[in-house]
Amino acid sequence: MEHSIESYIKNLVRETIGQTISDVQTHNGRSNYVIANWKMNKTLAETADFFEKVTCDDTVSVVICPPAPLLYLANNMIKQQVKPIALGGQNVHWAEKGAFTGETSTEMLKDVGCEYVIIGHSERRQYFHEDDEIINQKVRQSIKAGLIPIICIGESLEQKNFLQTEQILTEQLIGALKNTGSSNFIIAYEPIWAIGTGQSATPERAQETHAYIRSVLKQLLGQTADSISIIYGGSVNEKNAEEFSSMPDIDGVLVGNASLNAETFEEIINVFAKGEQNE
Ligand code: PGA
Repeated sequence: MEHSIESYIKNLVRETIGQTISDVQTHNGRSNYVIANWKMNKTLAETADFFEKVTCDDTVSVVICPPAPLLYLANNMIKQQVKPIALGGQNVHWAEKGAFTGETSTEMLKDVGCEYVIIGHSERRQYFHEDDEIINQKVRQSIKAGLIPIICIGESLEQKNFLQTEQILTEQLIGALKNTGSSNFIIAYEPIWAIGTGQSATPERAQETHAYIRSVLKQLLGQTADSISIIYGGSVNEKNAEEFSSMPDIDGVLVGNASLNAETFEEIINVFAKGEQNE
Protein backbone atom coordinates (compact mmCIF):
# COMPACT_ATOMS: atom_id res chain seq x y z
CA MET A 1 0.00 0.00 0.00
CA GLU A 2 1.28 3.45 -0.81
CA HIS A 3 2.52 5.18 2.33
CA SER A 4 0.49 8.39 2.01
CA ILE A 5 -2.76 6.51 1.44
CA GLU A 6 -2.06 4.29 4.43
CA SER A 7 -1.53 7.35 6.62
CA TYR A 8 -4.67 8.97 5.27
CA ILE A 9 -6.78 5.91 6.09
CA LYS A 10 -5.28 5.46 9.52
CA ASN A 11 -6.08 9.09 10.26
CA LEU A 12 -9.60 8.70 8.92
CA VAL A 13 -10.26 5.67 11.12
CA ARG A 14 -8.59 7.33 14.10
CA GLU A 15 -10.72 10.44 13.71
CA THR A 16 -13.90 8.43 13.27
CA ILE A 17 -13.52 5.86 16.00
CA GLY A 18 -10.54 7.07 18.01
CA GLN A 19 -8.33 4.09 17.34
CA THR A 20 -5.50 3.04 15.06
CA ILE A 21 -5.43 0.29 12.48
CA SER A 22 -3.75 -2.99 13.31
CA ASP A 23 -2.96 -5.66 10.74
CA VAL A 24 -5.10 -8.59 11.79
CA GLN A 25 -5.45 -11.46 9.34
CA THR A 26 -7.03 -14.53 10.89
CA HIS A 27 -9.54 -17.10 9.76
CA ASN A 28 -11.83 -18.24 12.58
CA GLY A 29 -14.13 -20.83 11.10
CA ARG A 30 -16.59 -18.36 9.60
CA SER A 31 -19.49 -19.65 7.49
CA ASN A 32 -18.92 -19.86 3.77
CA TYR A 33 -21.60 -18.15 1.72
CA VAL A 34 -22.49 -18.67 -1.91
CA ILE A 35 -24.96 -15.94 -2.78
CA ALA A 36 -26.79 -15.53 -6.08
CA ASN A 37 -27.66 -12.06 -7.30
CA TRP A 38 -30.05 -12.61 -10.18
CA LYS A 39 -30.36 -8.86 -10.82
CA MET A 40 -33.25 -8.09 -13.24
CA ASN A 41 -33.44 -11.56 -14.76
CA LYS A 42 -35.84 -14.54 -14.90
CA THR A 43 -39.55 -15.15 -15.28
CA LEU A 44 -41.82 -17.22 -13.03
CA ALA A 45 -41.30 -20.32 -15.20
CA GLU A 46 -37.52 -19.88 -15.19
CA THR A 47 -37.54 -19.42 -11.42
CA ALA A 48 -39.49 -22.65 -10.88
CA ASP A 49 -37.14 -24.47 -13.22
CA PHE A 50 -34.05 -23.21 -11.36
CA PHE A 51 -35.30 -24.36 -7.96
CA GLU A 52 -36.31 -27.75 -9.34
CA LYS A 53 -32.81 -28.26 -10.72
CA VAL A 54 -30.42 -26.79 -8.14
CA THR A 55 -29.21 -29.00 -5.31
CA CYS A 56 -26.93 -28.31 -2.35
CA ASP A 57 -26.11 -29.62 1.09
CA ASP A 58 -26.01 -27.65 4.32
CA THR A 59 -22.21 -27.42 4.67
CA VAL A 60 -22.34 -24.06 2.92
CA SER A 61 -24.82 -21.20 3.32
CA VAL A 62 -26.59 -20.75 0.00
CA VAL A 63 -28.66 -17.60 -0.49
CA ILE A 64 -30.62 -16.79 -3.64
CA CYS A 65 -31.61 -13.16 -4.27
CA PRO A 66 -34.26 -13.02 -7.02
CA PRO A 67 -36.08 -9.86 -8.15
CA ALA A 68 -38.92 -8.91 -5.75
CA PRO A 69 -41.85 -10.21 -7.88
CA LEU A 70 -40.26 -13.69 -7.93
CA LEU A 71 -39.66 -14.02 -4.18
CA TYR A 72 -43.07 -15.49 -3.35
CA LEU A 73 -42.69 -18.30 -5.84
CA ALA A 74 -39.04 -18.84 -4.86
CA ASN A 75 -40.06 -19.22 -1.22
CA ASN A 76 -42.78 -21.72 -2.10
CA MET A 77 -40.39 -23.71 -4.28
CA ILE A 78 -37.77 -23.91 -1.51
CA LYS A 79 -40.40 -25.15 0.98
CA GLN A 80 -41.90 -27.59 -1.48
CA GLN A 81 -38.53 -29.01 -2.52
CA VAL A 82 -37.16 -28.95 1.06
CA LYS A 83 -33.81 -27.49 0.04
CA PRO A 84 -31.31 -25.86 2.46
CA ILE A 85 -31.45 -22.55 0.60
CA ALA A 86 -32.14 -19.13 2.10
CA LEU A 87 -33.72 -16.19 0.31
CA GLY A 88 -32.60 -12.59 0.08
CA GLY A 89 -33.94 -9.37 -1.41
CA GLN A 90 -31.83 -7.33 -3.84
CA ASN A 91 -32.83 -4.02 -2.26
CA VAL A 92 -35.08 -2.62 0.46
CA HIS A 93 -36.44 0.71 1.60
CA TRP A 94 -35.16 2.45 4.73
CA ALA A 95 -38.60 3.31 6.10
CA GLU A 96 -40.80 0.79 7.86
CA LYS A 97 -43.78 1.52 5.59
CA GLY A 98 -45.59 4.41 3.92
CA ALA A 99 -46.02 6.45 0.77
CA PHE A 100 -43.00 5.25 -1.22
CA THR A 101 -44.37 4.16 -4.58
CA GLY A 102 -42.55 1.25 -6.12
CA GLU A 103 -40.56 0.34 -3.02
CA THR A 104 -40.35 -2.80 -0.87
CA SER A 105 -40.19 -2.80 2.95
CA THR A 106 -38.21 -5.00 5.33
CA GLU A 107 -41.50 -6.43 6.65
CA MET A 108 -42.54 -7.43 3.11
CA LEU A 109 -39.21 -9.17 2.51
CA LYS A 110 -39.50 -11.07 5.78
CA ASP A 111 -43.11 -11.96 5.09
CA VAL A 112 -42.13 -13.57 1.82
CA GLY A 113 -39.39 -15.65 3.44
CA CYS A 114 -36.26 -13.50 3.14
CA GLU A 115 -33.56 -13.70 5.79
CA TYR A 116 -31.04 -11.56 3.90
CA VAL A 117 -30.98 -8.42 1.79
CA ILE A 118 -28.33 -7.01 -0.54
CA ILE A 119 -27.64 -3.35 0.27
CA GLY A 120 -25.43 -0.86 -1.54
CA HIS A 121 -24.76 -2.85 -4.71
CA SER A 122 -22.71 -0.71 -7.09
CA GLU A 123 -25.55 -0.77 -9.63
CA ARG A 124 -27.83 0.82 -7.02
CA ARG A 125 -25.12 3.33 -6.12
CA GLN A 126 -24.60 4.17 -9.81
CA TYR A 127 -28.09 4.05 -11.37
CA PHE A 128 -30.21 4.97 -8.35
CA HIS A 129 -27.81 7.42 -6.70
CA GLU A 130 -27.63 5.59 -3.39
CA ASP A 131 -24.97 7.18 -1.20
CA ASP A 132 -23.43 6.01 2.07
CA GLU A 133 -26.11 7.87 4.06
CA ILE A 134 -28.98 6.06 2.31
CA ILE A 135 -27.11 2.77 2.55
CA ASN A 136 -26.61 3.31 6.28
CA GLN A 137 -30.34 3.93 6.77
CA LYS A 138 -31.18 0.76 4.86
CA VAL A 139 -28.66 -1.26 6.86
CA ARG A 140 -30.08 0.05 10.13
CA GLN A 141 -33.68 -0.64 9.14
CA SER A 142 -32.75 -4.16 8.00
CA ILE A 143 -30.94 -4.98 11.24
CA LYS A 144 -33.85 -3.58 13.23
CA ALA A 145 -36.26 -5.80 11.29
CA GLY A 146 -34.08 -8.91 11.75
CA LEU A 147 -32.79 -9.19 8.18
CA ILE A 148 -29.08 -9.84 7.61
CA PRO A 149 -27.66 -7.14 5.30
CA ILE A 150 -25.18 -8.18 2.62
CA ILE A 151 -23.36 -4.86 2.37
CA CYS A 152 -21.61 -4.30 -0.97
CA ILE A 153 -18.51 -2.14 -1.18
CA GLY A 154 -15.99 -1.67 -3.98
CA GLU A 155 -13.87 0.77 -5.91
CA SER A 156 -14.17 1.90 -9.53
CA LEU A 157 -11.43 1.36 -12.10
CA GLU A 158 -10.45 5.00 -11.85
CA GLN A 159 -10.21 4.83 -8.06
CA LYS A 160 -8.15 1.66 -8.35
CA ASN A 161 -5.79 3.31 -10.82
CA PHE A 162 -5.39 6.31 -8.54
CA LEU A 163 -4.52 3.91 -5.66
CA GLN A 164 -7.62 4.98 -3.76
CA THR A 165 -9.04 1.50 -3.10
CA GLU A 166 -8.33 1.39 0.65
CA GLN A 167 -9.56 4.92 1.16
CA ILE A 168 -12.85 4.24 -0.68
CA LEU A 169 -13.47 0.94 1.10
CA THR A 170 -12.83 2.52 4.49
CA GLU A 171 -15.22 5.36 3.76
CA GLN A 172 -17.89 2.95 2.50
CA LEU A 173 -17.51 0.68 5.54
CA ILE A 174 -17.64 3.51 8.05
CA GLY A 175 -20.56 5.08 6.18
CA ALA A 176 -22.60 1.87 6.01
CA LEU A 177 -21.98 0.75 9.58
CA LYS A 178 -22.43 4.06 11.39
CA ASN A 179 -24.63 3.63 14.51
CA THR A 180 -25.67 0.11 13.59
CA GLY A 181 -24.53 -1.50 16.84
CA SER A 182 -24.54 -4.94 15.26
CA SER A 183 -22.09 -7.42 13.80
CA ASN A 184 -24.79 -9.48 12.15
CA PHE A 185 -24.02 -8.58 8.55
CA ILE A 186 -21.99 -9.83 5.60
CA ILE A 187 -19.57 -7.68 3.63
CA ALA A 188 -19.37 -8.28 -0.11
CA TYR A 189 -16.25 -6.82 -1.69
CA GLU A 190 -17.13 -6.19 -5.32
CA PRO A 191 -14.63 -4.13 -7.32
CA ILE A 192 -16.83 -2.29 -9.84
CA TRP A 193 -14.38 -2.98 -12.67
CA ALA A 194 -14.84 -6.72 -12.09
CA ILE A 195 -18.65 -6.82 -12.14
CA GLY A 196 -20.07 -8.38 -15.29
CA THR A 197 -16.84 -7.79 -17.19
CA GLY A 198 -15.29 -11.26 -17.11
CA GLN A 199 -12.26 -9.62 -15.46
CA SER A 200 -12.31 -10.85 -11.88
CA ALA A 201 -9.76 -9.63 -9.34
CA THR A 202 -6.94 -12.11 -8.87
CA PRO A 203 -7.57 -14.27 -5.78
CA GLU A 204 -4.34 -12.93 -4.25
CA ARG A 205 -5.39 -9.31 -4.77
CA ALA A 206 -8.89 -10.07 -3.42
CA GLN A 207 -7.37 -11.81 -0.36
CA GLU A 208 -5.16 -8.79 0.32
CA THR A 209 -8.17 -6.48 0.09
CA HIS A 210 -10.34 -8.74 2.28
CA ALA A 211 -7.62 -8.79 4.94
CA TYR A 212 -7.56 -5.01 4.77
CA ILE A 213 -11.38 -4.86 5.12
CA ARG A 214 -11.15 -7.14 8.14
CA SER A 215 -8.53 -4.88 9.72
CA VAL A 216 -10.90 -1.92 9.36
CA LEU A 217 -13.80 -3.97 10.78
CA LYS A 218 -11.53 -4.89 13.67
CA GLN A 219 -11.02 -1.23 14.42
CA LEU A 220 -14.75 -0.57 14.22
CA LEU A 221 -15.98 -3.66 16.09
CA GLY A 222 -13.05 -5.28 17.90
CA GLN A 223 -12.55 -9.05 18.03
CA THR A 224 -16.03 -9.72 16.65
CA ALA A 225 -14.63 -8.77 13.21
CA ASP A 226 -13.10 -12.24 13.09
CA SER A 227 -16.57 -13.76 12.91
CA ILE A 228 -17.86 -11.58 10.05
CA SER A 229 -17.97 -13.25 6.65
CA ILE A 230 -16.39 -11.20 3.87
CA ILE A 231 -17.31 -12.51 0.44
CA TYR A 232 -15.94 -11.63 -3.00
CA GLY A 233 -18.02 -10.67 -6.03
CA GLY A 234 -17.17 -9.74 -9.62
CA SER A 235 -17.05 -12.24 -12.50
CA VAL A 236 -16.96 -15.29 -10.25
CA ASN A 237 -17.68 -18.47 -12.21
CA GLU A 238 -17.36 -22.23 -11.93
CA LYS A 239 -13.79 -22.02 -13.24
CA ASN A 240 -12.29 -19.46 -10.88
CA ALA A 241 -14.34 -20.20 -7.72
CA GLU A 242 -11.85 -22.77 -6.44
CA GLU A 243 -9.01 -20.26 -6.29
CA PHE A 244 -11.09 -17.78 -4.31
CA SER A 245 -12.20 -20.52 -1.91
CA SER A 246 -8.61 -21.30 -0.95
CA MET A 247 -7.97 -17.78 0.42
CA PRO A 248 -8.15 -17.42 4.22
CA ASP A 249 -10.14 -14.17 4.28
CA ILE A 250 -12.50 -14.98 1.41
CA ASP A 251 -15.55 -16.49 3.07
CA GLY A 252 -17.62 -17.09 -0.03
CA VAL A 253 -18.80 -15.37 -3.19
CA LEU A 254 -21.56 -13.15 -4.53
CA VAL A 255 -22.36 -14.36 -8.03
CA GLY A 256 -24.25 -12.52 -10.76
CA ASN A 257 -24.15 -13.99 -14.28
CA ALA A 258 -22.97 -17.45 -13.28
CA SER A 259 -25.82 -17.79 -10.76
CA LEU A 260 -28.51 -17.72 -13.44
CA ASN A 261 -27.82 -21.25 -14.61
CA ALA A 262 -28.62 -23.92 -11.98
CA GLU A 263 -25.86 -26.30 -13.11
CA THR A 264 -23.15 -23.65 -13.16
CA PHE A 265 -24.27 -22.23 -9.84
CA GLU A 266 -24.27 -25.68 -8.30
CA GLU A 267 -20.65 -26.17 -9.36
CA ILE A 268 -19.74 -23.00 -7.48
CA ILE A 269 -21.73 -24.13 -4.42
CA ASN A 270 -19.84 -27.44 -4.43
CA VAL A 271 -16.48 -25.69 -4.43
CA PHE A 272 -17.31 -23.88 -1.20
CA ALA A 273 -19.13 -26.81 0.39
CA LYS A 274 -16.03 -28.90 -0.19
CA GLY A 275 -13.85 -26.08 1.15
CA GLU A 276 -15.72 -26.00 4.43
CA GLN A 277 -15.60 -29.77 4.87
CA ASN A 278 -11.86 -29.67 4.34
CA GLU A 279 -11.22 -26.96 6.90
P1 PGA B 1 -21.14 -10.83 -11.92
O1 PGA B 1 -21.98 -9.91 -10.91
O2 PGA B 1 -20.88 -12.14 -11.21
O3 PGA B 1 -22.02 -10.99 -13.12
O4 PGA B 1 -19.88 -10.10 -12.21
C1 PGA B 1 -21.69 -9.89 -9.54
C2 PGA B 1 -22.57 -8.89 -8.83
O5 PGA B 1 -22.85 -7.82 -9.38
O6 PGA B 1 -23.01 -9.14 -7.70
